[in-house]
This record gives sequence, C-alpha cells and structure tokens, in this order.
Amino acid sequence: MLSFLKSLLSSSTNNTRIQAQQLLRDNSEDDAYTVPTRVLYPFQWNWDSCFTSLGWVTFDEDRAWAEIASLLKGQCRSGKIPHIIFHKDSESYFPGPDIWQYDNPEMKTSGISQPPVLATTVRMAYERCKNKEQALSFINSIMPKILAYHRWWHERRDPHSTGLVATYHPWETGRDNSVEWDEPLKAVPLDDLQPYVRKDLATINPAYRPTNEDYDYYVALLQLFKTHKYDQIKLYEISPFKVADIGINSILARANSDLLYMMTLCDSSEEDRQTVLNWLDMQAKAFERFWNSDRGVYQSINLITGEKLDFVTSGSFLSLWSGLIPFENASIMASTLENMRHATKVLVPSLSADDAKYDRYRYWRGPVWAIINFMIYDGLKIYDQKLLADQIFNATRTAIKTYGFKEYYDPVSGEGLGGDNFSWTAAMWLYWLDKK
Ligand code: GLC
Repeated sequence: MLSFLKSLLSSSTNNTRIQAQQLLRDNSEDDAYTVPTRVLYPFQWNWDSCFTSLGWVTFDEDRAWAEIASLLKGQCRSGKIPHIIFHKDSESYFPGPDIWQYDNPEMKTSGISQPPVLATTVRMAYERCKNKEQALSFINSIMPKILAYHRWWHERRDPHSTGLVATYHPWETGRDNSVEWDEPLKAVPLDDLQPYVRKDLATINPAYRPTNEDYDYYVALLQLFKTHKYDQIKLYEISPFKVADIGINSILARANSDLLYMMTLCDSSEEDRQTVLNWLDMQAKAFERFWNSDRGVYQSINLITGEKLDFVTSGSFLSLWSGLIPFENASIMASTLENMRHATKVLVPSLSADDAKYDRYRYWRGPVWAIINFMIYDGLKIYDQKLLADQIFNATRTAIKTYGFKEYYDPVSGEGLGGDNFSWTAAMWLYWLDKK
C-alpha cells in the first residue's frame, strides 16, 4: 500500500516536472530568452530571467546559459542591467520602449534595474550543471559584466559609500506595490503627469493588481527620470522617491559573496576580488541600520526622511538570504515567521496578516510568491532553521501542485492568482525539487 502511494506521488511529481519543462519551452523566444508570461509580460525581465535559468539548467544547460547571455545583451555601458529588455515589439504591455525612451545603444530597454540576483543564480546554475568545463568558460567570459553590474549599484546608487544602495522606483524592487512604498511615494509630485493607458487590466482582475493611484506614481517617476535623462548621480540628489530596500540590499550582499566565490574559480584579478570584498565589508557594517529591534525584523529605510518603513513584509525575511545577519536575529525572525502561520496557512505572505493594509489578493500586499519563498527557504537554511524552511517548501509545493504555475498564491487558501503559466514559478519548481 505504502509503495503504491509512493509511486503515485512520484508519478504525479514527474508529471508536474514535465509540465514545468513544457511551460518554459512554450514561453521561450528564439531559443534565447523566456518571457515571464505571454500577454501580461511579453519581454525579458531581469530577475525573472535569472530565476528562470535555474529551471532550464535542470534539463537543458545550453539554454540556461543562453538565457543569461540574452539578458546581458541589454547591459548598458554604465554596467546597469535594465529591468526589461525589449528584444521584440509587443502591443500588450505598458510602458513600452517608446515611453521609456531610454538611450541604450545596445538594445531597447527600460531605464531602471531590478534586484541583482544574477551572480547568485549563476553560481547556483554552475553548481547544478553537469558540463562544468563549458559552464566555466562561459562564466569566465561574463565575469567582467557581473562585476560592472555590481559596481553600478555601489557607485551610482551609493555615491557616498554608506553601505546602503538606493532605489528610485518601486518597480526596481520587484515588489511593485508593497506597502513599504506607500508613504515615500506621496513625495512624488503628480502635477505634470502625462495621460497614459494601462494595459494590465485588460487581462487580470483589477482587484489583484496595483491600483491606479500606484500607477500614477510609477508613471510620474518614469517621466521625471526621462526629463533628467536617467542621470543616476543627479537622481540620487533629486529623486523624490529614494529608499534603501531591504530586498535589494540583501540580494546584493548575497550576490557579492557569490561573485567572490565564482572569482576564485575564474581568472579574476586580486584587485577585483579586493573591490568586491570592500563592498561586502561596507554592507556588513551598515546592515544593522535595517534592524528594528522593537519589531524583531529587518526593514527598508526611506533615505529621504531617514525613517524605517515599519512593516513586516516578505522583504524583511529576505535579509536571511543576505547571510550577513547575526544568528540571534535570524532566530527572532524565525519565531516571527512561525507566529504568522496562525493567520496565513501558506507562508510567506508578502505582508503580515496583522497589518491593516494586508490584502490576500492584491499582488505584493499579501500574496505568496514562489521565488521569494525559495530565497527565504535558502536563507533559513543558512541559519539552521531547517524545520521552518521545509514547511515553506511543503506549502509552496502544495500550492503549485493544486493550482499550477501561477504568478502568485493566496496565503489563506493557497489558490493561484494573477498571470497564468508563469515562467519563474515553473522554473523554481524544477530547481527546488531537484535541490531537495
Ligand atoms: C511584476 C513583478 C516583478 C516581476 C515582473 C515580471 O512587475 O512585481 O517582480 O519581475 O512582474 O514578472
């Protein structure tokens, strides 16, 4: 009986694996990059692609490296890797390249970036792949590009070397409408806002998406950046929205460690290694500024007012992934997370259900995202919180198996919401399943 059940379980896991592989193939363009989902997000997104390469590497290594090579085609001379690469035209997304008008001679791209997970996912893909020789030769060739990307973050987004890198746009954090950005966004003037038409609401229930008010701020910021020709240092001085996102800062710290590791395998110079070590050292010293000891969590900071953005979000728990926090704080956060299970059966909600702004359906204001869960799972493991980490894995697995590869999930029922056939959910499933 037991063996019958086991074989049933493993055949259903195999079916889901085959479906996930098929989904990536269906969302693949020119055998080179993967769109997050057709219609809603028809281009190449930065951190989506990095996570998606981890799915590819489990069954097609060449395609995994091609994904990264395509992403890097959009890298700007300044080192920035944009948040969207518009390889081809599409009418189903706003704002497209004609709105961004970002002067990138390499390719049509957006004018902002996204959480820098690249170095970490390259390391993970390398560790997972079979053909190490081929992988290492590719990684060697892209090492200067990853270094330039990290340099862009440290020099352009932290010009005074504080150890905290700034972000100027909620889209850059990848957690678009997180409650953390509500207050800082109020400083963005809307007087000169040009008329625009959203396209996302044509396919998705508006109750699941950021509001029109949020969009006004997103577009006003974009228009402001355009006026200043996306001059990063100038924007550091004048952007009305300037936050140190706990997510981006944690991800960059982890990426610096992973970059250092990869440098030991490549032909990197001692000088470059020292540069990365210095960045990491600066971040380690500054990291405590994110800690809110009253709440027992790490939080983003509004760099204009200097205040912490006092919420318990999934971003708070990304600090575990940084590897920079003391064990003591990690165990306080693990208890906080554990306590959140009374209200939200499916961890990790993007906002604690105790918060008045919690909304179990609305994008980053409650729902659960597979890639975030993976990062928190991995972070908990660093701090020996294996039990809680496994609970997060199991919750994600149940949601995916029951509702398929959706954009995100309701933290109460586990129901899949948002875009269908979502690449990074399928990719995460493939990689995570193998890693377990
Ligand atoms: C949304 C998400 C962002 C993601 C993008 C494409 O904007 O908030 O994190 O990269 O969609 O999936």
